[in-house]
Amino acid sequence: MANSSHQFVLILDFGGQYNQLIARRVRECGVYCEVRPYNKLSMDDIKALNPVGIIFTGGPNSVYDEKSPHIDKEIFELGIPVLGICYGCQLMAYTLGGEVATCISSEYGKTETFYDSSSALFESSNGISWMSHTDYVSKLPSGFKGTAHTENCPFAAMENAEKKLYGVQFHPEVNHTQNGIDMLRSFLYNVCGCVGDWTMGNYAQTAISAIKEKVGDGKVLLALSGGVDSSVCAALLSKAVGNQLTCIFVDHGFMRKNEGDEVEAAFKDWDINFIRVNAKDRFMARLTGVSDPETKRKIIGEEFIRVFEAEAKKIGKVDFLAQGTIYPDIIESGAGDAAVIKSHHNVGGLPDYVDFKEIIEPLRLLFKDETRKLGEELGLSPTLVWRQPFPGPGLAIRIIGEITDEKLLILQDADWIFREEIAKAGLDRSINQYFAVLTSMRSVGVMGDGRTYDYTLALRGVTTTDFMTADFAKIPYDVLETCSSRIVNEVKSINRVVYDITTKPPATIEWE
Ligand code: XMP
Repeated sequence: MANSSHQFVLILDFGGQYNQLIARRVRECGVYCEVRPYNKLSMDDIKALNPVGIIFTGGPNSVYDEKSPHIDKEIFELGIPVLGICYGCQLMAYTLGGEVATCISSEYGKTETFYDSSSALFESSNGISWMSHTDYVSKLPSGFKGTAHTENCPFAAMENAEKKLYGVQFHPEVNHTQNGIDMLRSFLYNVCGCVGDWTMGNYAQTAISAIKEKVGDGKVLLALSGGVDSSVCAALLSKAVGNQLTCIFVDHGFMRKNEGDEVEAAFKDWDINFIRVNAKDRFMARLTGVSDPETKRKIIGEEFIRVFEAEAKKIGKVDFLAQGTIYPDIIESGAGDAAVIKSHHNVGGLPDYVDFKEIIEPLRLLFKDETRKLGEELGLSPTLVWRQPFPGPGLAIRIIGEITDEKLLILQDADWIFREEIAKAGLDRSINQYFAVLTSMRSVGVMGDGRTYDYTLALRGVTTTDFMTADFAKIPYDVLETCSSRIVNEVKSINRVVYDITTKPPATIEWE
């Protein structure tokens, strides 16, 4: 949250699809910001946060809709610079006495835009911007001038420089807007007076001192999965409190090939208490004969908690339970009245079962890319820092239907080959998540002179920014060809490989 150790920019969310992207861009500019729902803060709350600037996001509504979000006019009189984006720009114009109308033809996508380069926001006089709107500002409020236009939009940007109020109809946060990030940087640095005091080096130092102060000589417990978030959390805590920290790594047996050992090796030499619990037998015993995806997930979640709890009991009372929750896990959406909070579903539920005084979540302010930067700053290995997301239930939800030891081995081997080939092709950082799924379907094939009747393996690769929506990755055919040929040749019991070309929605990323 906002505090005096760094400057703070408030992003008021009006339900736009790019709200998190705006926040990430602001942070990339070295400025700390938070996204808050427009309807959850009073003017006094806003003043108390003491932001150096405010950004209004876009939103799906028209300012004339009965239920559309509005804002108290007073916000423009606080002397704090405001940048309104898309709906935020229309709202600013409307609230201050301008007019908003419906476009004759709505603008969507890349649009040639002409800028007034005397504005503090723009350096070039033209370029492509990303538009997505059906309404537009048709009459400026008094005191404002137009600073950009397109063929269909007379006021693609507007400003009242004296009052430090700016509006843009397009989306500077989206990559398709040429120089968009420079426009945001100009707003932050030239208008709000930001100094760029948000860096991961600073963050690590501040967080380590804060943890030291809070924990004192208390004991901290962390459920470590080997994923980026819990690993960075462990690194930060170990620097702050050393062996007052105990990490419990519950190996349920559904990790990828060699992964359990890799996680153990990564933390072996640290000055912390590291406990690995090999609990595969317990998990398998409960999963025998179970094929329904939700039941599998539920059993794994419950068993995880039981194993963790049993280990935690051996340690006795701990003072703090640490969690690797990151900002997107807690961010609230301003769309609609009921705020949606996405809960962390990896260790969800633990707090009820463990005897502890307080939770600490040292990463709760960070985005994923910042968490990775922090991991690098703290000296974590690239394998851990760049590990792709892996679901809590692991390969158990990538084997369709009942899990058997045999299927687990088949999937581990096939998935290993797929990952190896993706890395060899240099695609491992551009594809956000890629993995193999063992379908329980068998089909007929021919190998040598014989007929086979073996499993079909599905490969899945997705590109996404937030994992809420995703596109299938356009993996080159020659890479897929190598994967397919290696998998059917090297992995017993697979005679067919398919590539999943579905987006999310309508599919999900995982198959179960
Ligand atoms: P879906 O399949 O819902 O997945 O499109 C979205 C993202 O969430 C991950 N995922 C999980 N992560 N515990 C987790 O920590 C889970 O139970 C879980 N289920 C799905 C999935 O891998 C993808 O990145």
